[in-house]
Amino acid sequence: MIEFELTFMDFLLEHQERHGRTYHFLILMNSILNAAKRIQHFYLTGALRGNLGPAGCINVQGEKTMKLDQIANEVVKNYLFRSGRVIEAISEEEEKPVLMNPSGRYFVYFDPLDGSSNIPHNLPVGFLFGIAKRNLEGPEDNHLRAGQEYIAAGMFVIPTGTFTIALKDAGCWRFHIDETMNYVKPIKLELPNDQKKWELSYNSAHRYYYDHRIKDWLEKNEKKYQFRYLGALAGDFHRILTNGGLFLYPAIVNHPDPGKNYPNGKLRLMYEAAVVSFMCQEAGGSAVDEKGQSILAIQPQQPHQRTALYLGSKELVDEITEVLSS
Ligand code: AHG
Ligand code: MN
Ligand code: MN
Repeated sequence: MIEFELTFMDFLLEHQERHGRTYHFLILMNSILNAAKRIQHFYLTGALRGNLGPAGCINVQGEKTMKLDQIANEVVKNYLFRSGRVIEAISEEEEKPVLMNPSGRYFVYFDPLDGSSNIPHNLPVGFLFGIAKRNLEGPEDNHLRAGQEYIAAGMFVIPTGTFTIALKDAGCWRFHIDETMNYVKPIKLELPNDQKKWELSYNSAHRYYYDHRIKDWLEKNEKKYQFRYLGALAGDFHRILTNGGLFLYPAIVNHPDPGKNYPNGKLRLMYEAAVVSFMCQEAGGSAVDEKGQSILAIQPQQPHQRTALYLGSKELVDEITEVLSS
């Protein structure tokens, strides 16, 4: 007997039809899948083609750009544009919002290649995206959407071949790539309550420079959990989604070299923190910033604004929120 696995597109078609929705979102998602597969291809062939090195320039964030950051950015822009469904996109690699189709229906916020420090090693990286919808009732003002206005958010772990997507009020789902390059076999994710599985994930080199309340909390509590850190949010969050626990990228406030402080955290709100927070909420978890404010409630003022991030199992995020309010 041949087994026919449900593909992501079958799954989405059923979802849209069950909710009496249009097919515009399917068309957009088809473009996003095409982009992910193309990035996957460039990543897998990167070492052989000499594409794993630096691009020799600095991006809008003041960070060194890798060739693959640029390739992935071009790939995603191309497919989003071709879908005809995108009004405007915001990319980590583009200083200004990229205008696409004024009568398009969606805003897309993306990090084409997350975890660039893994590129030279060919280790896992991510492609993260969040999607919001235009105002269908009246004129669209193209304002920057907060995470709570997203209708979907997802991430591909590349070249591992997993795709996880959360749909507003419809849960968080994981798919695996098969030999025909289809993402198949939806698995609904819910953060486990079993604390024995929980993990902590953060860059331990920075722990001395965190706010003293976070430093103290770590000292007191971290021995209860396993510790894992890959250095790519997509991969690190992938583990938290499965095992539960806490990913944290706090503000860096006490560095002896003040130039190395990140008082607003390092991660970018619109295409990193809000994307994973939206997914986490749909899987039963939550996320806050350094003030203990919900990440999804933050109204972005700028496309590239940064935020501290505490993300994962609700109980742990609540504990941190309490610590931050003390
Ligand atoms: P990007 O490669 O898109 O700039 O993002 C890197 C981010 C994120 O993926 C990861 O969680 C974090 O930076 C790692 O930072 P450290 O190297 O400071 O740990
Ligand atoms: Mn990133
Ligand atoms: Mn990136």
